[in-house]
Amino acid sequence: MEAAMTTSLDQRRLTAALRRSAVRATLAPSVHNTQPWHFALRDGTLQISADPSRQLAVLDPTGRQLTISCGCALFNARVSLAASGITTEVQRLPDPARADLLARLVPTGSRDASVDSIAALDNVVELRHTNRRRFADDEVPAELVETLQNAAAREGCELFAIRRDEHRLAVAILSQRADDIQNVNPAYRAELRAWTTSDIGRTDGVPTSAIPRVDGDTRDEVPIRDFDTNGLGILPSGTRSSRNQCLLLLGTQGDDPLSWLRAGEALQRIQLEVTRQGFAASPMTQVVEVVSTRAQLRSELNLSMSPHILLRVGRAPITPATRRRRLVEVLSES
Ligand SMILES: Cc1cc2nc3c(=O)[nH]c(=O)nc-3n(C[C@H](O)[C@H](O)[C@H](O)COP(=O)(O)O)c2cc1C
Repeated sequence: MEAAMTTSLDQRRLTAALRRSAVRATLAPSVHNTQPWHFALRDGTLQISADPSRQLAVLDPTGRQLTISCGCALFNARVSLAASGITTEVQRLPDPARADLLARLVPTGSRDASVDSIAALDNVVELRHTNRRRFADDEVPAELVETLQNAAAREGCELFAIRRDEHRLAVAILSQRADDIQNVNPAYRAELRAWTTSDIGRTDGVPTSAIPRVDGDTRDEVPIRDFDTNGLGILPSGTRSSRNQCLLLLGTQGDDPLSWLRAGEALQRIQLEVTRQGFAASPMTQVVEVVSTRAQLRSELNLSMSPHILLRVGRAPITPATRRRRLVEVLSES
């Protein structure tokens, strides 16, 4: 009798921890804040699936960024379970017949949360926001870059620090070229407009409160995506990002859905570590969205990896949180 009660109590605790991990997963970043995911609590596991109806057809025809976004959510769920003291097996792309099922988290036991190094990142999940402000001029310490490179390696990815002058110049020129190519495409602009919002009731899309105003004063050497399609951006226009800022390029050896999922997990691990150390970051992906500039980036930087995310790291005042869809829309339980 006592054993049965303990079992059902353990079961309830486990379900609560899995549900919590889904809630934390929803706080992950996603391309254009599309939140292209669905979570299911099933048979004592948490399943994370892609929601293809939220894929950006123009910007992301292969679904790479959709999968990276889901990888970020997966990492938040892993962190939450670690903080609850639950060890888990992560099964990635577990069912060849279901390409949308990206991961299954299977609890395997419990132990002291402090032994798992990612558990400590749980405290900063709500504090991480994409920060598109001007970053202060102070240098990002080499030790932090090393910590971030280790974080990427722990997720099976590579983080290339863009340091040499000719590499910085190449990144700036190629990013500007990608920005030009995209902005003359009416379909790209229409998609961007559809996912940028000043409607405070809307629970997805990039809000104007999180984007800089674009008024000709921007002068970024590495452009920040111009979300300000309606001239309603609320953050100051002077972002003035320079070639000398800390720029990191995240990549993987492969270029397939499993690699993209791992890249998302690494991206989130890096961003949470950045947040924990009092810094801010913003992903910039235009240069890898345009097929020609992505190929040039690989050759000019002599990369053996496939590049996925350019990340800007620095110090800046906080930016407001973006909204998330209601839990009932993204979580099912059976
Ligand atoms: C795969 C991916 C690509 C992204 N690309 C860009 C980008 O090119 N420019 C940008 O300003 N933000 C980019 N972001 C940040 C998203 O716009 C941001 O995560 C989303 O609006 C939610 O806001 P939050 O990160 O503050 O929670 C990207 C995020 C992800 C996960």
